Amino acid sequence: MPLLLDEINQLKNQCLSTLTTITSLESLEQFRITFLGRQGSIAQLMPRLKELSLEEKKVVGPAMNSLKQEVQEAFDTKHAYLEKKLVEQQILKQKFFDVTAYEPHAIKGTLHPLTYIYKKVQDIFISMGYAIAYGPEVETEYYNFEALNIPEDHPARDEWDTLWLDVPGLLMRTHTSPVQIHTMEKSELPLAVIAPGRAYRHEATDATHDFMFNQIELLVIDKNISLAHLLGTIKVFFRKFFEKDDLEIRVRSSYFPFVEPGIEVDVSCPFCKEGCALCKRTCWIEIGGAGLVHPDVLRCSNIDTKKYSGFAFGFGLDRLTMLQYHINDIRLFSSGKLEFLKQF
Ligand code: DAH
Repeated sequence: MPLLLDEINQLKNQCLSTLTTITSLESLEQFRITFLGRQGSIAQLMPRLKELSLEEKKVVGPAMNSLKQEVQEAFDTKHAYLEKKLVEQQILKQKFFDVTAYEPHAIKGTLHPLTYIYKKVQDIFISMGYAIAYGPEVETEYYNFEALNIPEDHPARDEWDTLWLDVPGLLMRTHTSPVQIHTMEKSELPLAVIAPGRAYRHEATDATHDFMFNQIELLVIDKNISLAHLLGTIKVFFRKFFEKDDLEIRVRSSYFPFVEPGIEVDVSCPFCKEGCALCKRTCWIEIGGAGLVHPDVLRCSNIDTKKYSGFAFGFGLDRLTMLQYHINDIRLFSSGKLEFLKQF
């Protein structure tokens, strides 16, 4: 009886008994590599067949085949069994999952920095008597432009690089100003609202521009509203926001089709007295656009312009958050980077 036959039988016994001790898919994979793999023990016996005589081959050949087959079958059976067991274990785990179990090293989540600032802004305006209004991020051309006194052929439309949707007339809102229109259509007068939310622009991104950003819109409509109310409101808000009683604002005349007059608002730098990196050494920080609501916009929402007037103000929440936390790249906000988010 050739030696090889003994070796085959020994190997078979070794394989089958090893298989019975295996309890995980990982060790089963190790078993497969060691015994059934291309470089495995069974494959290594194969070339030795060549050394045998024809007579011997007739005996050893089938033994070799049955070795391979039996081990493979036993392996398959074990594999199916372990997989089934794993699924059962997972089901059992889900069934008995204890939501109250104490996890001493759990990673605690934190709020997104924009959320902190949004809450802070919101709290201040609520304390000043404002309500919060929301509008859709997918807008119609009417709300984003026309009702805001920006007709189709108006050159000012180029100011807002628009992300149009495939559906004609639909776009991603380029600012939160359309919420002014939704609010005027729905609310009774007088009204005072802030409208926070995301806006989108089709433009290249850099450290201070992202195609998605956050704005806060302010709208107040009442009898006899004047620029004095607007400026007073902005000053009070920023004094509270930066916790600086001597913060000043200054305005520059500007143009936005939905306000008349239109202004741009700067606040005195809350971080320095003689110029720093945050105010680019000018001691002033640009904050946003504002003005008295254009009578055409009021009329479009059926507001009697003889009785009522209003002011509007729009500013970037991202910029405010960047100033507050000294963040130097707007794109970090939606980067999902944990090293960034964990700092707040
Ligand atoms: N919606 C303008 C923009 O995104 C900002 C703005 C300017 C809002 C003047 C206003 C406003 O409410 O009165 O560029």
